[in-house]
Amino acid sequence: MTPPPPPVPSPDRLPVFPSGFLWGASASAFQTEGAAYADGKGPSGWDAFAAEPGRIKDGADATRGTGFYTRYREDVALLAGLGAGAFRFSVSWPRVVPGGSGPVNPAGLGFYDRLVDELCAHGITPAPTLYHWDTPLPLEEAGGWLDRDTAARFAEYAAVVAGRLADRVPMWITLNEPAEVTLLGYALGEHAPGRQLLFDALPAAHHQLLAHGLAVQALRAAGADGIGIAVSHSPVRAAGDTDEDRAAAGLYDTLTNHLFSDPLLTGRYPEGFEGLMPGPVGDDLAVISQPLDWYGVNYYSPMLVGAPAPDALDSYAGLGMPAGLPFGLREIEGVERTHFGWPVVPDGLHELLLTLKGRYGDRLPPVHITENGCSYEGTDDRPRIAFLDGHLRALHRAVADGVDVRGYFVWSLTDNIEWAEGAAQRFGLVHIDYDTLERTPKASYAWYRDAVRAQRAATARSRD
Ligand code: FCB
Repeated sequence: MTPPPPPVPSPDRLPVFPSGFLWGASASAFQTEGAAYADGKGPSGWDAFAAEPGRIKDGADATRGTGFYTRYREDVALLAGLGAGAFRFSVSWPRVVPGGSGPVNPAGLGFYDRLVDELCAHGITPAPTLYHWDTPLPLEEAGGWLDRDTAARFAEYAAVVAGRLADRVPMWITLNEPAEVTLLGYALGEHAPGRQLLFDALPAAHHQLLAHGLAVQALRAAGADGIGIAVSHSPVRAAGDTDEDRAAAGLYDTLTNHLFSDPLLTGRYPEGFEGLMPGPVGDDLAVISQPLDWYGVNYYSPMLVGAPAPDALDSYAGLGMPAGLPFGLREIEGVERTHFGWPVVPDGLHELLLTLKGRYGDRLPPVHITENGCSYEGTDDRPRIAFLDGHLRALHRAVADGVDVRGYFVWSLTDNIEWAEGAAQRFGLVHIDYDTLERTPKASYAWYRDAVRAQRAATARSRD
């Protein structure tokens, strides 16, 4: 006999988050907008990369995205139906400044102006990310994040966007996941710009951090407030109880977590790294570490890392791991996996938040979870609901344990182009039919809507 399906966790049984907690959803320009060459938009490094045969595994047409550029009103209506308090989208730098520097494209800026108005009209807080990986192609061709100049160009662009939107936008994200851009884009070459520089990719990390710092200054000068950044974090566990495994895991932890959070929150690089970075590093660190209004955490799964060994994975969920690295990734056994193969470990979210709090203490600003979600296929959406339920419970435990968390943004509102994976990984609460671009809410959409509704009702009751 087939066992009965697991019960769907009830959306009104979640523990209650603090009053004012922001319930949101996230997306990004390249993954959704389409209209890659419309209305004066310039090409991005990702447009060029995606156009190379074989770069997008399933050959999905990234130039179409989900059609968000023309269908954004439909998606804002879906957000409103969800009861979302905020929408994290990204502004495409080459749509606004097609050449990466120089003239601004009024039609591009006009699109974000209308999107922000549409969100505001529905009572949804617009939370734009200024850089979600789509570097203007001319800048990429001049070296991209390996070139210090890119940081200055980014700050100019940030000022342009803030000049237009700061009157209505109370929440800004400078960069998305500088670690992934460094690792996947410049070290391993799985993402644009496809460079395989391994440790020579480190300047890309520094220049992104500098770009962040300069953009914070530019945003504040333009009257913007509520500034944060979205940093990916994964708890890193040593594969075995040996000095070699612990050292390898420690290095991986430094490279993917602290190399970014330390300079942002303490003004120092982890020991041994400052000397590897270009520029007047001391002066740059003062710019990089300006106070933030909040700190964004993207969490998907923990990593199990050990010394390089024959049983290390040569590919981890699409991320190719070349031989010769001083660490090896291992499979986490005994846990569920998403369609992407990513381990489902809700406790990792609690663990990483307490680790951040322990490491930075009062220097850690209030936190927003700027991304968390999972890819599942097919019509049975219960695994996604179980994922959300588990992670929200883990998040609540972190709040109860003293971490000041102010919001949660599910990745993602709709299915979208999952970078080099193409259309095959479906992270949305809303299904996209890539032939017709028709949107169909999944069961998790209704679940999240009911959870948000129940949370609001509970906090309203406790105020009475
Ligand atoms: C993150 C990216 C986001 C999305 C999710 C699944 O690394 O920021 O754009 O692709 O992964």
